[in-house]
Amino acid sequence: MATATKPPQFTGEQIEELQTTAAEHMFMHGSQTNDWKGDLKIFVKGEGCWVTDMQGNRVLDGMGGLWYKAAGYGRKEIADAMYQQALAIESPPAPGACVPTIQLSGKIAELYPDHHCRTFFVSGGSEAVETAVKMAKKHQQLKGKGGAYKVISRRNSYHGSTAMAVSLGKASYADSVGPDMPGAMWVTNWNSYRLPYAGDPVDAAVKCANEFEAVILHQGPDTVAAIIAEPISTASGIQVPPAEYWQRLREIATKYDVVLIADEVITGFGRLGTYFGPENWGVQPDLTVVAKALTSGYAPLGGVIATKKVADVFLGGERETFKHLITFGGHPVAAAAGLANLKIFEREDLVGNSRRMGTYLYERLQDLKKHKIVGDVRGGLGLLAVVELVQDRASKKPFPKEAGLGKKLPKMLYDRKLVTFRAADLIAMCPPLSINRSEVDFIVDALDDAIGKLQKELAVT
Ligand SMILES: Cc1ncc(COP(=O)(O)O)c(C=O)c1O
Repeated sequence: MATATKPPQFTGEQIEELQTTAAEHMFMHGSQTNDWKGDLKIFVKGEGCWVTDMQGNRVLDGMGGLWYKAAGYGRKEIADAMYQQALAIESPPAPGACVPTIQLSGKIAELYPDHHCRTFFVSGGSEAVETAVKMAKKHQQLKGKGGAYKVISRRNSYHGSTAMAVSLGKASYADSVGPDMPGAMWVTNWNSYRLPYAGDPVDAAVKCANEFEAVILHQGPDTVAAIIAEPISTASGIQVPPAEYWQRLREIATKYDVVLIADEVITGFGRLGTYFGPENWGVQPDLTVVAKALTSGYAPLGGVIATKKVADVFLGGERETFKHLITFGGHPVAAAAGLANLKIFEREDLVGNSRRMGTYLYERLQDLKKHKIVGDVRGGLGLLAVVELVQDRASKKPFPKEAGLGKKLPKMLYDRKLVTFRAADLIAMCPPLSINRSEVDFIVDALDDAIGKLQKELAVT
């Protein structure tokens, strides 16, 4: 359970000093210093779904950290497991491993649909994507498709910020600063609100999936190593695809001998109401990329889960060895956090709770459609949802930047004691999987108030 200690207190002077140090010496990831300097949110305590900032405001974290706080804040048993491992042996000498890293690979195999899978541990999501792509390419080489180096992803997806991963997806909020990875190719992303193809949504989704096939055929199947997609892309606005979309991706990948990579950095470990997202559609990818919820953010850890079929290709001699090394990949202290975290998952049925509370959240969010500026509500598969605000419902026209939603909304919601991330025309929700009904009500009531207020301010009648 969460610890019950009081949040530490800070004087005005201490707060000011920290603000100055941050403003002068620290990059905040993915944001402009001028946008936050002097007013950085500094958090000092977490318990369950709630966090307390330096000024003593206790607010509900509707974003689960940055899409990862599955088991909630303040879990003493996770902290204890990390402490005990650090006391015993914090990291192994090079030719060996430590107990929790091995045990975690076994626990993942228990939870993953292919129980004979093998995990390559890294330190986070971007590294895991890099690793999966390299593994896919080497897998193709070993299988005799040595010229396969191309990787097809979807526009407006996000697969990480490192030099190769940023070439995939090309989200607007990640700088690529230079040439993309040779062989990076892109297709249309799925969008349930503004269908990329007119007509029936299932047909449109299949047509989107078929774009992968068109690129494979155009480029030549022997040149394509992998396709990569998130089960639900948060970068493109939490668009839930029909089952046929991922089923078609699987068919295409199998038909052309292309490795199907599911980027489950956000969706892995329960977010979509199943341990792994494609389980919702009966699909088994070849490689699954995980990070975030694997430790609920108690320590940095990521991994690439390879099905036995893929992993076995790397068994043999020197030629077959996957020559890839990340010093702190699978760090024992992080692995101990992962194991303790997954123990909580099982004991408290967090995946079942994600399904139940996700359904409840999605149902309650429908009430917000009473506000004219709510264009769409998406979610329903576990605890991942979004409310999309539009200027005009009929045309689905977005608000212009000058309307200042990105400045107004986060403040309105924080005043209503709800933490959001980049809330503007899209208000994403990804709360801890341990959330209860009254906390879901708290989120929806806060959104209701803030959206009502915003609508008045924008003079939409
Ligand atoms: C789908 C997806 N892939 C990869 C990444 C990169 O993960 P990390 O930030 O741990 O490097 C993210 C991060 O949000 C993500 O959402």
